[in-house]
Amino acid sequence: MSLKRALGWSALAVSLALLVAAFVAYRTSGNACDDRSAAAPARPMKAIVYCDYGSADVLKLEDIEKPTPGDDDVLVRVRAAALNPLDWHYMRGTPYIMRMETGLRKPKVTRLGVDFAGTVEAVGKNVTQFKPGDDVFGGRTGAFAEYVTVRQDRSVVLKPQDLTFEQAASVPVAAITALQGLRDEGNVQPGQKVLINGASGGVGTFAVQIARSFGADVTGVCSTRNLDMVRSIGAGRVVDYTKEDFTRVDERYDVVLDNVGNRSLLDVRHVMNPEGKYILIGGGGPDDGRWIGPLIKPIKAVVLSWFVRQDMGMHLAELNREDLTVLRDLMQAGKVTPVIDRTYPLSEVPEAIRYLETGRARGKVVITLEQPGTE
Ligand SMILES: NC(=O)c1ccc[n+]([C@@H]2O[C@H](COP(=O)([O-])OP(=O)(O)OC[C@H]3O[C@@H](n4cnc5c(N)ncnc54)[C@H](OP(=O)(O)O)[C@@H]3O)[C@@H](O)[C@H]2O)c1
Repeated sequence: MSLKRALGWSALAVSLALLVAAFVAYRTSGNACDDRSAAAPARPMKAIVYCDYGSADVLKLEDIEKPTPGDDDVLVRVRAAALNPLDWHYMRGTPYIMRMETGLRKPKVTRLGVDFAGTVEAVGKNVTQFKPGDDVFGGRTGAFAEYVTVRQDRSVVLKPQDLTFEQAASVPVAAITALQGLRDEGNVQPGQKVLINGASGGVGTFAVQIARSFGADVTGVCSTRNLDMVRSIGAGRVVDYTKEDFTRVDERYDVVLDNVGNRSLLDVRHVMNPEGKYILIGGGGPDDGRWIGPLIKPIKAVVLSWFVRQDMGMHLAELNREDLTVLRDLMQAGKVTPVIDRTYPLSEVPEAIRYLETGRARGKVVITLEQPGTE
C-alpha cells in the first residue's frame, strides 16, 4: 500500500472514531432531571430549573431540596437576584461550542442565575467571616432560587446597609466585568478619554460610573431614549447611535470598552489613539452566531493587534471577593449606584429573560423574592 493511501485510510479511521465518540457523548449526556425520583423534597424550596436547552419556555419554577451548607459554606436566603446575558446563553446552550463544557445534549447543571443578594441563614462549622443575620451579596450558580450556598472564601461579601437587596444583587457579574475591563485591561488613568459602546445596558451603566470614578473623561454610546440617563450617571459626552456613527467622531480615545461589538475593528481604530486600548466585552443576541457566536470577534482582535500599535482583545470577567469589595467601597463612597430597569418576581424569571433577550434593558433586570413571613 502506498504511503499516501495509508495516510488516507488512517485519516478516515480517526475521523470516524471522533464522530462515533461525539455521537456517544451526545447521546449519553444527561442531567439531574433524568433520574429525579417521584419523592417530594424533604425540605423544599422554590427554584428555577431547566432540564433542556431552549427558549425561556424551558424554565420551570419547581420545589427542590433546600441546600445544606457544608463546613466552609454560608446558606443565604436570597432576597434578590439579577439577570445577565450569560443566563440566556446557558439556558439556550449557545453558542453551541460552550456545550463542550455545559453539556452536549442537555445542560449538566439544571439551575440558572448567578447574581444574588440576601441574608445569611446558617453557616458551616469552619465559617468565621459571616454569621446568621448578615446581609450579603455575591455570585453563585443557581441564584434564581429561595436559597443558595456559597463558600465563605468565594464571591460573597457583606452588603452595605444603605444599598437595597435589589441594588446589591445587580452588581456582581456586570460591575465586575466593567471594573476588570477598565482597570485590568484598559489601565484607565485620570484624565484619559474613555468611550463606552453600549453605555445604557447592565455592563455599560456600571462602566460609565467606574470610568468616571477613575477620573476619566467618559463618552457613552446609546440610543436617543437613554441619552439623559447615561449623562446623569457621569458621561461627559453622549453619542446617539441612531443619529451618529461613533467611529466617525472627531475625538480620539485612550480606551474603548465595547459591550456591543457591532462595528468592525478597523472602523473602531479610527477613533483610537495610537497607543489606545480596545476591550471587547461582548455583543450579539440569541439569534446571532449560534455556533461560535461572540468568539469570532476576539480572535480577529487578537490577530489585528499583532499588526497594529493599539492593544486589542477581549476580557472575560472573573468573579472574586476582592473585586466585590472594591465595588462595595465605590458604592459606599457614592461613586457607583446601580441602575435598575425592571423587577420581576421569581415566578416570572422566564418573562424577565425574554425582556433581557430583546437587548433593550436600561441598566439591570432584577428578580425580587418574597421576604420571610410574607408567604
Ligand atoms: N466578557 C464578559 O465576561 C462579559 C460579562 C458580562 C457581559 N458580557 C457580554 O457583554 C454584553 C453586554 O452585556 P450587558 O449585561 O450590558 O447586556 P444588556 O444589559 O442586555 O445590554 C442592553 C443594552 O445594550 C444597548 N444596545 C443595544 N444595541 C446597541 C447599539 N447598537 N449601540 C449601543 N448600545 C446598544 C441597549 O440600548 P438601546 O436599547 O438604547 O439600544 C441596552 O441598553 C453582552 O453580550 C454580554 O453577553 C460579557
